[in-house]
Amino acid sequence: MHKTAEIVEAKNYILSKTTAIPEIGIILGSGLGGLADEIENSVVIPYEDIPFFSKSDAVGHANELVIGQLEGKTVVAMKGRYHFYEGYSLDEVTFPVRVMKALGIDKLVVTNACGAVNTDFNPGELMLITDHLNLVGINPLIGKNNDDLGTRFPDASEVYNKELRNTALQVAKEHNITLREGVYGWWSGPVYETPAEIRMIRILGGDAVGMSTVPEAVVAVHAGLKVLGISCLTNMASGILDEPLSHEDVIAVAAKSRDTFIHLIKNVLKEI
Ligand code: HPA
Repeated sequence: MHKTAEIVEAKNYILSKTTAIPEIGIILGSGLGGLADEIENSVVIPYEDIPFFSKSDAVGHANELVIGQLEGKTVVAMKGRYHFYEGYSLDEVTFPVRVMKALGIDKLVVTNACGAVNTDFNPGELMLITDHLNLVGINPLIGKNNDDLGTRFPDASEVYNKELRNTALQVAKEHNITLREGVYGWWSGPVYETPAEIRMIRILGGDAVGMSTVPEAVVAVHAGLKVLGISCLTNMASGILDEPLSHEDVIAVAAKSRDTFIHLIKNVLKEI
């Protein structure tokens, strides 16, 4: 569990670089970092400069915190995130969520690239996360609870805030953007799933599968943040099509969805 003093030290470092008080945090997934380039009057802080932030080296991630204005809202965006499969502890993966909360956010938009398990979905489409399955069997809140940060047994009956979801659906409709709805299953990776694992995940109720998001969403709920989750379905999950999966294809499809993704998020920001 994170230590209050470390969160405060990271926050104070960030406040030495900007006077902006962010209201919304955004975590940008693989190939989706382009949204951060739209932020106006931005202050860009490399993760490695921030006390207690780790350095991420996943391909397609820039590792910068970008603070500024987007659609009239003051936002703090993570251009790149930490993944469990890189060897970071879940404390390290989720530390930035604590810091963004300390900076003042009350809403967190989490995004990712993921595989479509639901065969009605298509690569390149966006999916609103309605709920998740923690298939990894570990939890970022394990350990002695820090009562400054949240309660010991947080409720998880609405991790992905219903009001934010409804707003996102409404905005997508108004802008003619296909926005699927589904349950995101967290798989540790880095190996992609086997076809048998995908069949299992479908039986368990998963519509999509990916290697991120759930740790950050759990910590966000513990911190009392309202979470909105948007996935970019970059591929049909393992075994659905008769073709292998590759990270290059994932990044390429995410890049193709870039404009639609940015358009959706920007218009959602106007409404929240
Ligand atoms: N599985 C897990 N993670 C992913 C996938 C996938 O099919 N696509 C993009 N990230």
